[in-house]
Amino acid sequence: MKQGPPASVALLAGTAALALWACEKPPGPGEPLRGLTAQERHRFDEGRKLFAQEFTPETGLGPLFNENSCGECHEDPDLGGNGDEVEVHATRLLSDGFCDPLAELGGPVFQQRVTPALHDALGIDLEPIPEDVTARGMRSSPDLFGFGLLDAVPDSALLAMSDPEDRNHDGISGRPNRFVDGRIGRFGRKAFVPTLSEFNEGAFPNEQGVTTPEFPDEGTVGGTPIPPGVDPLPEPEIDSRSLALVNDFVRFLAPPPSGKPTRTIRQGRGLFQRIGCIACHVPELRTGSSPFRALAHRRVRAYTDLLLHDMGPDLADICLGLATPSEFRTEPLMGLGLSTRFLHDGRAASLEEAVGEHGGEAQSARDRYLSLIPSQRAALLEFLRSL
Ligand code: HEC
Ligand code: HEC
Repeated sequence: MKQGPPASVALLAGTAALALWACEKPPGPGEPLRGLTAQERHRFDEGRKLFAQEFTPETGLGPLFNENSCGECHEDPDLGGNGDEVEVHATRLLSDGFCDPLAELGGPVFQQRVTPALHDALGIDLEPIPEDVTARGMRSSPDLFGFGLLDAVPDSALLAMSDPEDRNHDGISGRPNRFVDGRIGRFGRKAFVPTLSEFNEGAFPNEQGVTTPEFPDEGTVGGTPIPPGVDPLPEPEIDSRSLALVNDFVRFLAPPPSGKPTRTIRQGRGLFQRIGCIACHVPELRTGSSPFRALAHRRVRAYTDLLLHDMGPDLADICLGLATPSEFRTEPLMGLGLSTRFLHDGRAASLEEAVGEHGGEAQSARDRYLSLIPSQRAALLEFLRSL
């Protein structure tokens, strides 16, 4: 009788198959990208702790702030996800068309809370917004899953998709935003900030009042210097090593897994393409070279072109960089199935509402959506929920 392999070998093979399966199973929300080196994985884990770290006035919080940790606003369904916090931005559009981001007041984010010491010193409960701003905008807290891949998409890809003069006459004229120094922007709803690490670093002073090596100044409260004794900690309140770890956590967050493509989802995906949603929500981008192997030359199914589009007067709020009040970055749709509020200020409670609010350059796609028969609309929405 021919002998089969000993049981232990079979068991080993089974374990290997299981390990392979675990390896190939796409990462869940909040998990790191597959293929990190052991050191990168370690940095992700360390960065995750700092992302969750709750600051107090004694460790650098405030004196003006919105919340005490990154994880307080980016937490659903896990760290790096979305949040129910909605914050206030404001800028000033000058008569010559220049957009003043209010740098002298600490930028467009107006903090909604103050430390007890600042309250006692100045008698205020939030950062006052000057009367001469031209608009305010509310901003809901988005998820950051897969954003390291978006960071690794080369500028040349954005330029190749842009069509500021609408030369192809499809009524859609995406263009990149530019930061103050002229670099192409892509992060934030107005695509103002060029790189993920700059956005992360800026979030420490903007959201937590925590000073960094790049922003070592607590600034003023509407021009009034912070009274002595209110913020006794020496600047910067977070060092570059910790910042680098937070960057690695955010950069290595995997895109959330998309749902199994059922027949209805495939039908919805086809309709999404046919009615022209993909003119802005470009299904797939490719990353370029990157010092991190897990980010280099990858596909990212983010459903965005990272460009600005005029969305019409109903959605308009602030200007920022080159973005006019009605221009917004095509919101990446990856992770949509994890969200419960939609559009830049969270005004839409359902996906249908979010699509219904599309105006400006997106109006004809919206009208084509509205003229679909109910079963087609349902398929399209099911596709969106699967992202
Ligand atoms: C008070 C809530 C709050 C806190 C705290 C907060 N964020 Fe955010 N975050 C937001 C909001 C709101 C936006 C959207 C801003 C916009 O659209 O301009 C955002 C956007 C981002 C983005 C860009 C996402 C995109 O769509 O381009 C990154 C990256 C980010 N946050 C990282 C961080 C990090 C890192 C921290 C901690 C240092 C942090 N955030 C703390 C609310 C918060
Ligand atoms: C002209 C470009 C353009 C076209 C065409 C377009 N969108 Fe959008 N879409 C945007 C922009 C820009 C936003 C962000 C608007 C905001 O936040 O106020 C957005 C946001 C969304 C959102 C909300 C995402 C979120 O997380 O808040 C959904 C859902 C969406 N689009 C679906 C669609 C569908 C479905 C179609 C086709 C019927 C479509 N879009 C066509 C540009 C476009």
